This record gives sequence, C-alpha cells and structure tokens, in this order.
Amino acid sequence: AMVRHYEFKVVTKNFTKLCSSKPTVVVNGKFPGPALRARESDTVLVRVINQVQYNVSIHWHGVRQLRTGWSDGPAYITQCPIQPGQSYLYNFTLTGQRGTLLWHGHISWLRATVHGAIVIRPKKGTPYPFPKPDKEKFIVLGEWWKADTEAVINQAMKSGMPPNVSDAHTINGHIGPIHNCSSSSHSTYTLNVEQNKTYLLRIVNAAVNDELFFKIANHQFTVVEVDASYTKPFKTDTIYIAPGQTTNALLKADQVPGKYLIAISSFMDAPVTVDNLTNYGLVRYKTGQLGSSLVLTAMPALNATASQLNFINALRSLNSKQYPANVPLSIDHSLFFTVGVGVNPCSTCLNGSRLVGDINNVTFIMPTISVLQAHYYKISGVFTDDFPANPLASFNYTGNFTSSLATLNGTKVYRLPFNATVQLVLQDTSIIAPESHPTHLHGFNFYVVGMGRGNYDPSKDPKNFNLIDPVERNTIDVPTGGWSAIRFRADNPGVWFMHCHLEVHTSWGLKMAFLVDNGKGPNESILPPPKDLPKC
Ligand code: C2O
Repeated sequence: AMVRHYEFKVVTKNFTKLCSSKPTVVVNGKFPGPALRARESDTVLVRVINQVQYNVSIHWHGVRQLRTGWSDGPAYITQCPIQPGQSYLYNFTLTGQRGTLLWHGHISWLRATVHGAIVIRPKKGTPYPFPKPDKEKFIVLGEWWKADTEAVINQAMKSGMPPNVSDAHTINGHIGPIHNCSSSSHSTYTLNVEQNKTYLLRIVNAAVNDELFFKIANHQFTVVEVDASYTKPFKTDTIYIAPGQTTNALLKADQVPGKYLIAISSFMDAPVTVDNLTNYGLVRYKTGQLGSSLVLTAMPALNATASQLNFINALRSLNSKQYPANVPLSIDHSLFFTVGVGVNPCSTCLNGSRLVGDINNVTFIMPTISVLQAHYYKISGVFTDDFPANPLASFNYTGNFTSSLATLNGTKVYRLPFNATVQLVLQDTSIIAPESHPTHLHGFNFYVVGMGRGNYDPSKDPKNFNLIDPVERNTIDVPTGGWSAIRFRADNPGVWFMHCHLEVHTSWGLKMAFLVDNGKGPNESILPPPKDLPKC
C-alpha cells in the first residue's frame, strides 16, 4: 500500500457559462475539481488550503473512514469548518473498498462547485471481477446556476420557500450544445471511442438537487459496481443515479461507427417547476464517417418512477467467494424513520411559515461547534442523544395526515453501541410533495434488504427481505410514497451524519447523526483529534 499526497487549494476563479460570468469557488482552479486516485488499502493525505472568503470543509463521500471520523468532513458534525487562510490535513486509509466515489464540499451549498471523483483501483495484482476494460473514463454530472449558489440558498432560507432551480446540468463541466448564446459557445462533452473496445465509465452524480437518468443512444451498459461495491453484472440502456451515488458501467463500442448522443435528464416526482432541460454529450467513433448523422435517444419522463425502480431493483451484490455479502441476520436495533418535508411557523418569512425537512418529525439544527468535538471533550449543551427510534407523530401515507405538519427543532443524535447490528426502515411521508429522497449515511456501507411503495408493514414486509445478495451502498433511494430498509453493523466509532443528498432538503433540516462510542478504548472508541483540527 502507498501513501498518496494531494494538495487542494480552494480558490475563487471566474467561470463563464450560459452567457454569464461569476466568481466561482473551486479546487485548484478546476470545475469539476481534480480526481483523487488511489488503490485499495492506500493512505490518502489531502491538505486542504482555504484561500477564499468562505468557511470550507470537504467530505470524502462513501469513504468508510474506519476510526478516522475527524477526517470525514461535514462541518459542525465532525469538525469546525476551515476558516479563510487556514488549512487542514485530511488523513484516511481506503479500507475494503474499490470502485468510484466522490469528494465534495460539506458546508452550506459549497458542493455545487467544489466536487470531484475518487477512483479506487483494486490492490496491485488483483483483477476486476469482470473483463478488463480497454480504457477507463470518469463522467462527473453536476448542476450550474448563473447566480451565486450561496445567494440562492440564503435567499431561500430567508423566505422559507424553495430555492431557484439550476440553469443547466453539466457533464464533466460541459454545458452542452442546447444553451447557445451569442457571447459564449459551449463545448460539448465528447467521448471518443474505437469500435469494439470496452470502456469502463465511472459515473458520479455530483448534482446539488437533481436525480438523473443517463443514456447513450443505441448502446447498452453493463453495470458492475455502485458506491464502490461490486454488483452482479446486469445490462441496461438507462442508468438512474441520485446525487451522492456513483455507478461503474462497461460500455462496449459495438455499433456502426458514427456519432451517438449521450443524454442526461432530471427525475423528480414533485409537482413543482423544475429545470427539465436535458443536457447532451457525444460518443464519437474514431473510425466513423464524420459526416454521418447523429443518432438520438428518447429519455424517460420527468416522473418516470417505473424507470427509476427498474434500475434500482436490478441491483444485487456480487456476493462472490472473494467479495461476499455479509448481511447482518440478527438485529439489535430496529429503527423506523420517516423522512419528509413539513412546515414550521416563521414570523420573518414570506408566508409566515417556512418549509422544513425532518426525520421522525425532528428538524436538525446545526450546532456551533462540531458534535464529534462536543462528544469527545464532553462539552454539554451542544447536542442531546434522544433522537427518537420511531416517528413522534403517527402518519399514514395512503390516508389523510391528521397531525400538525410542524416539526420539533433539535440537535439530536441516536446512540448506537459499538458493533450493534442495525435495521433502519426509511419511510417517505410525501406530505407536502411526493419526492424520492436519496439518503446518505456517513461512515458505513449498508445493505438494502427491501424496498416498497405505500406504507411499510412490519408484519409482512420483512418476510420478503433479501438477506442473501442485497446491494451494498452508501446512498439509498427512499422512493416516492414508499420505503427502503437497510441493515448495517455499527463497527465504526464516531459521529456519523445521515441526510437527504438533495442539498435543499439538507438545508431545510432533513438530517440527523448516529453516535457510536462505547467509551472503552482502542477499538470501540473515538481516537484523539489531529493537532490541526480547525477551531470554531
Ligand atoms: Cu455526500 Cu453528507 O454527503
């Protein structure tokens, strides 16, 4: 194993897209930022230097951070932000993971422009469990606002209303051909291929608020890995990918040489106005007649829940001898969490009320010092450990919601004993608007043992759980008006954030944290913090 050194300078640089220029916070002057490349078992040291006027912090999304919670990155959860002019050394080892992940800013909406891919190749001499591709490419999907993204979310939080939707989607930073304007031309992302070669596409959804469909005209993908866990290979022509999720897929250039459209489009069930613009790229065969006409593809509809579920339901762990699925079979903590959006009174807001996100009717309030520090140094008054194991208000997705939509504000964590086995059912409440919630858990991978529409039924649904080869992920879709059940072992001491990866929902408070620490020393407790841990 090696030690890999990176330096991430967070800087402001002017970018011109959609005919308008804005100072943009990016890493090393790039959008998307640099890819982090390593092999399984390598140690990664990233010095993050803050050269902008904002507080920053960076999260290594999906990296397990076994016993290195101080390097996880979410501001006010595991660290205070890195202040202007300061730096912090993130230090972690890539344990038991190979594939693609992403890194991104983790304070307010910084991740809109501060993000990039993490590529973890298998250990030297260990082959992929699928035919070796001829080439590897990463495809980082994002969203672009003409306005300053901090202004967009600040304005929304002030008014209590939803933020303005983005102006375009990006493919590796390219805006694509549809937004033509006289003052600037937009290059189109192009994937050059040679006929009959196989490409491993490492697809990352780094968008802020949009779940996406991804297609290439006339081509099929073989999905081989999601969230840095191998899957049983399966073929599909449509990839569904939520913010925070990553998908590795093999693409065989097996068509007549020519030009084929790459398309991404939004998936969202909410009856709100969204930017349903489709962004395009191109697959271009090197040996094709360049004059040949472009082959197009149709995309699933904005509300194509069936297309979303078709993709998700096809995912299975590889579960081979070398890469077994270790699903916890007996459960110590059985939790039932509702996730949704409610309304709280707000005297200074536009309508006298504000939209709030909640888990179990609790809207998480960010503390002013990190929860991990407060726990480690026993600073009282920062958080409480009374996060409810069940919703505070009863609800019925299929019937009328009778209780108030208002939520309780608090900085509450749920305490899990070290090594406890956990089953967590996440139920979408869809009270204000039906939406699917891509929910991300820091510090763990989990198995998705079940999923369904309507109300979760504890007497019937567990009978159908897949305890053999469920897919292993770090970000799970809680489907619109439905539920997902996950299982994991609490084998990582620390404070671990869990939140909806639609950033607007996180801003509204759809977040909570688990605290794992037995107070028993070496393996069961949190290590001391590094010396350069930022101060609040
Ligand atoms: Cu990718 Cu807490 O986020």
